[in-house]
Amino acid sequence: MNFINNLIVKFVKILPESVVYVFAKKYIAGIKLEEAVAETQKLNAMGICATMDILGEAIQNKEEAVSAKNEILEILDAIEEQKLDSNVSIKPTQLALGLDNDLCFELFDEICGKAKELNNFIRIDMEDSPYTDATFELLGKLHKKYDNVGIVVQAYLRRTIGDVKEWNPTGVTYRLCKGIYVEPEEIAFKGYQEVRDKYLEALEIMLDNGNYVGIATHDDYLVEGAYKQIKEKNIAKDKYEFQMLYGVKPALRDRINADGHKIRIYVPFGKSWYAYSIRRLQENPNMAWYITKSILTGQ
Ligand code: FDA
Repeated sequence: MNFINNLIVKFVKILPESVVYVFAKKYIAGIKLEEAVAETQKLNAMGICATMDILGEAIQNKEEAVSAKNEILEILDAIEEQKLDSNVSIKPTQLALGLDNDLCFELFDEICGKAKELNNFIRIDMEDSPYTDATFELLGKLHKKYDNVGIVVQAYLRRTIGDVKEWNPTGVTYRLCKGIYVEPEEIAFKGYQEVRDKYLEALEIMLDNGNYVGIATHDDYLVEGAYKQIKEKNIAKDKYEFQMLYGVKPALRDRINADGHKIRIYVPFGKSWYAYSIRRLQENPNMAWYITKSILTGQ
């Protein structure tokens, strides 16, 4: 399946962006902030909260990082003005991590400060392994100043259980996900079930320690595993939430919502939609059928 998906992705990458957009648009809320606001309003009306994300990563120069920071401040203003139930997720390389780590801290500092004033929250996304240490370093500096910033950890990394044990005592809040980037076997578990097992192990350590967890997955097995832990450990509703990506498995989203658990949808938008959408396509187990259908129907 992976082999076929990789072949299809190679084919997709030679298509013009305008064609790719036809089947990528399901995974993004739009290009403009107003579109993301409108989608977030729809989710909020269903009792679902959001985390908004302006797409972009691995920027090439400092000016791009400053401009991304300004766009993120606009999102915070829009959330406040429109009274949205949403926080903001940020990829650190979008704010110059790896290019100029001091600048990256300054930009996050300004954003977290503004989010604090507005009683909002910033989630630092976790990118591929060359950035893991630097991302935790960034978190460490920010977490000393702000309690409204949290991190993402990836169950597939061999280091994650150790990281969680190290960070638990700080009271940091987590988003726990499987991990999306292609990593070497020396540092990442590769087996499908093995990653699931590590996910549930990490979740248990977080919940046992009382850290707030965003349980980010579309995997029914993990959702059931999380339900079981929450029930058996009698975890309070203010100690966890479920999280899913925009455009993926809305039926599961609605079930979790109907079951009375808090659920947050990751709402990405912006002109730099390409890399993110390709990653989402790659994860779609029915990608071939989905792309064919999109091309035939234009939807
Ligand atoms: P899995 O990929 O096994 O999917 C389970 C099932 O869900 C599939 O069998 C399929 O039915 C369905 N599905 C999943 N993706 C689909 C798609 N694109 N289209 C159609 N169906 C699909 N990763 C990371 O490395 N750093 C990060 O910061 C984040 N942030 C993040 C935030 C949130 C809110 C979520 C939900 C996920 C992330 N991720 C992430 C991505 C995460 O690591 C992972 O790649 C995806 O969530 C897919 O993993 P699942 O747990 O859903 O399992």
